[in-house]
Amino acid sequence: MTTAADVDDWFCEHLHLEDDALRAARERAQAEGLPDIAVPPSHGALLATLARLAGARRVLEVGTLGGYSTIWLARAVGPEGLVTTLEVDPHHAEVARTCVDVAGVGDRVEILLGPALDSLPTVSGPLDLVFVDADKQNNAAYVRAALPLARPGTVIVVDNVVRDGRVADPEDDSAVVRGVREVVDLVDADPRLELATALQTVGRKGWDGFLVAVVGTTG
Ligand code: SAH
Ligand code: DHB
Ligand code: MG
Repeated sequence: MTTAADVDDWFCEHLHLEDDALRAARERAQAEGLPDIAVPPSHGALLATLARLAGARRVLEVGTLGGYSTIWLARAVGPEGLVTTLEVDPHHAEVARTCVDVAGVGDRVEILLGPALDSLPTVSGPLDLVFVDADKQNNAAYVRAALPLARPGTVIVVDNVVRDGRVADPEDDSAVVRGVREVVDLVDADPRLELATALQTVGRKGWDGFLVAVVGTTG
C-alpha cells in the first residue's frame, strides 16, 4: 500500500527536486534544532514555478525559518532578483543566513529580523510575488500590509490553509484556524484580489494546502 508521502518521495526522486544545496539546508536546520515545518521539496518547487511564471524578480516572504523556501524563491528570481524574507526568531534568521549563503544565493536574499508587522513598512515594492508562511493569526494582516506594495499581476501565496481539514470544521475555533479563515475572507472581499483559489495538498507534510491569489488592480 503506497501513501501520499511515498508518492511525494517518488516525485522528489524522479524529478530530482532537491539538489545537494537544498538537502544541506534541510539538514542544517534539523541539526540546529529548528522545527520540521519547512515546505516539502514538491511545494518549494511549486513556489519556484509560480515565481517563474510570474517572471518574478522581487519577492517578499513572511516567515523564513531556516531559509529552505527562501532558497527556492531566490533561485527562481535569478541573479538580478531580490528576496526579502521576514523572521522574528534570531536563531532561525542566523541559520537561514548560513543556508542561503552556502547555497550560493546569499547576495539576493535580505533577511529582516523582527516581528514581520514591524518590518513590513520598511519593505519596498513593487513586489512580484508574496509568500505568507509565518504565524497564522496574522495572515490577513500580512496580506493587507503587502497589498500597497503590489502591482497588477502580483501573485500572493498563503501556506497552510487547510491544516488537516480544520479550516472547514465548524467546531474548530482555534486562533490558527481563525487566522486562515480571516485571510480567505479578505481575499474574497478585497476587490484588488481578482483571481484566487485554494488547493489542498497531501504528501510528506500531511494534509494541508495553499491559497493563491493574483492582484488585479492596486487602486
Ligand atoms: N517559509 C519557511 C517556513 C516558515 S515556518 C519554509 O517553508 O522553509 C514559520 C516561521 O515564521 C518561523 O521561523 C517563525 O519563527 C516565523 N514567525 C512566527 N511569527 C512571526 C512573526 N510575527 N514575524 C516574523 N516571523 C515570524
Ligand atoms: C506548521 C507547518 C507549516 O508549514 C508552518 O508554516 C507552520 C506550522 C506545522 O505543521 O505546525
Ligand atoms: Mg508553512
